[in-house]
Amino acid sequence: MEEDIFTTRTKELSADELNKLEEQNKRLVPEFKANKLEIDAQRHWDLFYKRNETRFFKDRHWTTREFQELLAEECTGERRTLLEVGCGVGNLVFPLLEEQLKDQTSEQGFYFYACDFSPRAVDFVRTNPLYDTKHITAFQCDITTQQVHEHIEAASLDVCTMIFVLSAIHPDRFVDVVKNLWQLLKPGGLVLFRDYGLYDMAQLRFKPGHKISENFYMRQDGTRSYYFAQEELAEIFNHNGFDVLDNNYVHRRTLNLKEGIDVPRIFLQAKFRKRSDS
Ligand SMILES: C[S@@+](CC[C@H](N)C(=O)[O-])C[C@H]1O[C@@H](n2cnc3c(N)ncnc32)[C@H](O)[C@@H]1O
Repeated sequence: MEEDIFTTRTKELSADELNKLEEQNKRLVPEFKANKLEIDAQRHWDLFYKRNETRFFKDRHWTTREFQELLAEECTGERRTLLEVGCGVGNLVFPLLEEQLKDQTSEQGFYFYACDFSPRAVDFVRTNPLYDTKHITAFQCDITTQQVHEHIEAASLDVCTMIFVLSAIHPDRFVDVVKNLWQLLKPGGLVLFRDYGLYDMAQLRFKPGHKISENFYMRQDGTRSYYFAQEELAEIFNHNGFDVLDNNYVHRRTLNLKEGIDVPRIFLQAKFRKRSDS
């Protein structure tokens, strides 16, 4: 049983939750270790896919419900192009491609590009039975650098999707990523975004010794995770050539009555459009 609440209001913290956040400040990740995590970021994600192969993330079938622009029916005329940044093993692109292939008019659907930091993740995408360069090209790249421009022409994309990806990147590099997306998109092109929201349960659960900086943490396996405030995300995109079309916290309660588990999650879901005059 699931029920999503969309809101622009930041979660109010209880005294106990405030206390947990305070506790985290008692022991931060030492600077040398934080620097090492940045240097080793690619290796940690690659090891993640070595351990988990394709089993960790579920297929993201909710995307067309939340982002109508991903529906093939919306397509008219020319084939549109979409880049999935931080595609992992393809849990977003393959369900979309599958739907598109069922449709006889699929020539009018998307051409997909999918990129990830982890070479192993990209290999999983390339060995998926649905992988066919007629419809999709996957490549390895670090989206904080200029590498992506070796694969995709400037001002050529209709849509960029980033699903739980920016949170994996150091906050000092957010602007580099957004600038890259801006260069790749056509004027009027869209960024569709979903990621961890401020004070999500997973943020409150970190014990001392895991916080790197404000709202930025390391997990046990060396991967990192940022928790986004709504205004902060809007500001980054707004200052770098995008209009904010949508930007809401999604409060999700996943109630599993049989197992008696109630897991409150907070995500941030947003849509940005490249300004034509920027
Ligand atoms: C939490 S996973 C999400 C994967 C996928 N988007 C999904 O929702 O199933 C984060 C992904 O971002 C990728 N990633 C992290 N830093 C990146 C970077 N600098 N450039 C490109 N991809 C990156 C990781 O390799 C990983 O696959």
